[in-house]
Amino acid sequence: MSEGLVTVSYIGSTILFILSLGGLSHPETARRGNFYGILGMSIAILATVLGPKVTSYVPIIIAMLIGSAVGIYAAIKVKMTEMPELVALMHSLVGLAAVLVGYANFIDPTAAFTGVEKTIHEVEIYLGILIGAVTFSGSVIAFGKLSGKIDGKPVLLPARHWINLGLLILAIILGVGFINAQSTAGGFVPLLLMTAIALAFGVHMVMAIGGADMPVVVSMLNSYSGWAASATGFMLSNDLLIVTGALVGSSGAILSYIMCRAMNRHFLSVIAGGFGTGTGVTPAGGAGAEGEVQPITPEETAELLRNASRVILVPGYGMAVAQAQHTVYEITKLLREKGVDVRFAIHPVAGRMPGHMNVLLAEAKVPYDIVLEMDEINEDFPETDVAMVIGANDIVNPAAQEDPNSPIAGMPVLEVWKAKTSIVMKRSMASGYAGVDNPLFYKENNRMLFGDAKKTLDEVLKYLQG
Ligand code: TAP
Repeated sequence: MSEGLVTVSYIGSTILFILSLGGLSHPETARRGNFYGILGMSIAILATVLGPKVTSYVPIIIAMLIGSAVGIYAAIKVKMTEMPELVALMHSLVGLAAVLVGYANFIDPTAAFTGVEKTIHEVEIYLGILIGAVTFSGSVIAFGKLSGKIDGKPVLLPARHWINLGLLILAIILGVGFINAQSTAGGFVPLLLMTAIALAFGVHMVMAIGGADMPVVVSMLNSYSGWAASATGFMLSNDLLIVTGALVGSSGAILSYIMCRAMNRHFLSVIAGGFGTGTGVTPAGGAGAEGEVQPITPEETAELLRNASRVILVPGYGMAVAQAQHTVYEITKLLREKGVDVRFAIHPVAGRMPGHMNVLLAEAKVPYDIVLEMDEINEDFPETDVAMVIGANDIVNPAAQEDPNSPIAGMPVLEVWKAKTSIVMKRSMASGYAGVDNPLFYKENNRMLFGDAKKTLDEVLKYLQG
């Protein structure tokens, strides 16, 4: 394939990637967006492999076979609830690739840059390795936290902001040393030291993040992985990689910004680490998390729902774990047939990945027009008869508003307690992802429906049908 044809293919892929991002921004067009993405990536891979820069096919084919086998295995094996961990792991691979490409470029004996070109190339290598290493170690820690292999509690070193600042200054000084180095061997020392610093920074940054702020960090690492890919594109002089990386980097940054706004957090405070931690003075149980809870049976729940005129369903991570979305929709259909107004309230960080609940509800074929974002529906709870919380916890925790010392203080939540009756469906009194107790459970107008969401809802459905 000639260089010209490769360029044309790359432009085609870039357009398809932009269309893909556009499509993915709405559930109705998401499938088409996904298709554009697959097509764009297939063209990109073919054009690169068949392009003039590739001189030997055997290693590429072996690598592609191994990569495809791992990818297909992961896609089949990984459960929907494990997707965020998988995504974090994939980000780490992008970071690692940027580091390895950086080192390969640095020791490339065929590279013949001089003067300004050499300096630019070295800056590309240095930045590529720096971003790649932060992405790699940060994503590995995020994977550990999301999968429960590492404790979700924030690890806060004393003077952590000064440590971060110190690491940044050190990285800049080493960068100057690297660019001014007279030989490859001389450049190696600052490069290796900087890699170690960047790895430490990634670990430190993500370890300091408290449970409820993990979504921001995950989308931020997504953005970093894009910039790491873009930096790799500069190192390899590959225009498509530069553009694609920039697309991922900027869309990830926009997503992080949206998430920060949704969580009422400042972007810089989250990346500096240590938020989502509170002051640590909240007694176990949190403000008002005391008293007796009032359990309810599936039969009584069915009765309450049947007699309601307005119902809001609030799905959370537990609905994903129980795979209860299909039963949820069966109940919704039945109630709507009986003339009950049923709608869904979606919190921006419900579940474990952006859009998690929307994906599950779309899979169960819930119509989009009854699925509303938090801002669109939060004011309607006072006029609601029953607010039913299905395996959610942090996103309906009133401590965010009532307890200034709570680790989730200031985070906007769905105000289900303002409904005439709220029902919380979960298996136990355990806390949610942020590890914060929930005073909602003890409110006078709240009932606890204990059990696995799928099994319990199957029973509620049975009583509604009967
Ligand atoms: P959580 O606060 O994690 O609460 C989920 C609840 O579901 C748990 O308290 C659990 O209680 C219950 N549950 C688990 N399995 C269940 C089952 N089979 N049947 C019934 N209930 C079950 O979830 P949320 O309210 O959706 O909030 C999301 C949290 O995750 C936030 O803190 C958010 O910051 C964080 N997070 C979000 C993301 C994104 S991007 N969405 C990414 C990372 C972290 P029991 O054990 O008692 O059943």
